[in-house]
Order: sequence, then structure tokens, then C-alpha cells
Amino acid sequence: MPFPIHRPRRLRLNKVVRNMVRETYLSPDDLIYPLFVTFGKGVRKNITSMPGCFQLSVDETVKEAQKVHALGIPAVILFGIPEHKDERGTEAYNAKGVVQKAIKAIKDKVPDLLVITDVCMCEYTSHGHCGIIKNGRILNDPTLELLAKEALSHAKAGADMVAPSDMMDGRVAAIREILDTHGFEDLPIMSYAAKYASAFYGPFREAAESTPSFGDRKSYQMDPANRREALKEVVIDIEEGADIVMVKPALSYLDIISDVKDAFDVPVAAYNVSGEYSMVKAAAKMGWIDETKVMMEILTSIKRAGADIIITYHAMDAARALNKS
Ligand code: PBG
Repeated sequence: MPFPIHRPRRLRLNKVVRNMVRETYLSPDDLIYPLFVTFGKGVRKNITSMPGCFQLSVDETVKEAQKVHALGIPAVILFGIPEHKDERGTEAYNAKGVVQKAIKAIKDKVPDLLVITDVCMCEYTSHGHCGIIKNGRILNDPTLELLAKEALSHAKAGADMVAPSDMMDGRVAAIREILDTHGFEDLPIMSYAAKYASAFYGPFREAAESTPSFGDRKSYQMDPANRREALKEVVIDIEEGADIVMVKPALSYLDIISDVKDAFDVPVAAYNVSGEYSMVKAAAKMGWIDETKVMMEILTSIKRAGADIIITYHAMDAARALNKS
């Protein structure tokens, strides 16, 4: 009979002891902050469903990047909202596109901040899907060429890492190959390896103006009911050359993060997505939860599950809280 010999409360008696036996530590170093880059100048447009997040023109993006860096957050991930969208998402691989300009501008002013780019077509296509469409179908192989071109254009603009989020089969290999043949063999790829067809992306689609004009993303993103399939997706991406693999969303998928961490030796990233963020913001606004405490608990749980890196809209608030404590 363990009790009264075993009393786990002994190690919870006071803060000093609790800190000594704490298993999981969160640091600003773990975080990546997403930024939405739009066209124009002096633009800082509220994203209604994501309080505290904005669509920013390139000049404003640089200012935001400076704040991120000052808080000790090592990296940002850039999403683009182009002025024009078309069937083939040509702005995605335009050397003068919003993301390409933002990469240069950030690297110029804040060279130590790691600039990661989201590589996908959905923000740039008129139909809002992540690939090329023919007869209502999202075509896999012809999309790879465009994704590779997009990744290369980000690399040429000075990106430090590319992160394909489209879920087309074979895209990591296609991107690795084009990068290597153009002298970017040292540029890492963080793949959105296990990305689910999730309703938690709702607010992001307002932010990035990327809601599909018809249908949904279920023919390329994963079924939320599947667990083992995530490991298959991750194996394929690692074999194709992914340096970091991501699980997305994070909070409803902590089991997947844990599985991936246990099964592989590569760093694991988790994307604490827009809907997860907006729910916290909304409940806090209603006065129903303590925003900072809930945020820290969520981020700690994602790290505890096995994430080495967390992409989160809470990054600046979390860094402020961590820097204070
Ligand atoms: C682009 C992309 C999406 C997100 C990141 N990259 C949206 C989607 O797949 O529909 C979602 C991020 C978030 O919800 O915070 N494919």
C-alpha cells in the first residue's frame, strides 16, 4: 500500500520545490510568430476574428518583425495576401510579390530574425484551393512545379527556411530538388507533414482571404479521425528531405504530436492555429477565462506533448509573459 509512504504532495509544497521538479519549460526560443503580408503602404488592418493580429504592408511588417525580435522570439513565418489572384496563383512566385519583398525588407533591417515562408497556392489562387484545378479536381503533379517555383523565389529573396503547407504528394522532394539545383542545398525545409482538414482554420481564412470558392480541402488535407496515417505522412516527408516536420492543428492533435515525437528523431513543430487562438481571445473578452494563464497552459501542453517548436499567434504575448516571470 503506497500511502502513507508515498505522498506526491511533498514535491508540491512550495514554488521552489515545484520549479525543481518541473518537467516542461517554455521559452521564447520555442516560438514562431505568423505574419500576414499585404500590398500597399502604411497598412495595418485588424483581422476581426483574430484580435491582436493584422494584415500588414511590407513597411509595417518590418516594424512588427522588429518587435518580435526585441521580445526574443527567434523566427517569423510569412503568409502573403497578393493584390491580384488568378487560376495559377502567379503572384506566389513573382520575384516582386508581397512575401518576396517582405523577406528582403526584414532581412535588411532585422538580419538575426529567422524568416520562414509558408509555401502554398491557396492565398494566391482565385479559387482559393492549394493546387491547380481541372474539371473541379485539384491536380497533384502539375501543382508541384508551381510550389517548387514559389519556394525557389522565396529562397532567392533571402528566406532562411521554407514551409510547404499544401499537402500535395511529393512536394517536399520537388522543393528539395529545385533548391539544390540552384545552390540552396543548405536551406532547410519545415514540412506541414501531418496537416488535417480542420475547421480550426476558419479565422485564418479570413486573415489570408483564402477560403476555397467551392468544396473543401478534404481531398488533400488529412481526415481528423486518422492517427496512424499521420506517421505515414511524416515518414514520406522525412524520406523526401524534410528537416523539421509539423503537426497541425496542435491542441486537438496532441496525441499526434506525441506519436510523431516518439517515432522519429527530427525536430517536431506544432501549429497552434487560428481557431485555437480565437477561442481563447473570445472567452477572455467575455471575462470567462484568465487569458494569460490559459494561453501558457495551452502552450505548455503542446510542448509537453513533444513539440520542439510552436507556431502561435500568442507568441508575442507569451514572450512578454515569459520575460516577466
Ligand atoms: C495554407 C495554410 C492554412 C493555414 C496555414 N497555412 C490554411 C488552410 O490550409 O486552409 C492555417 C493556419 C491557421 O489556421 O492558423 N494552406
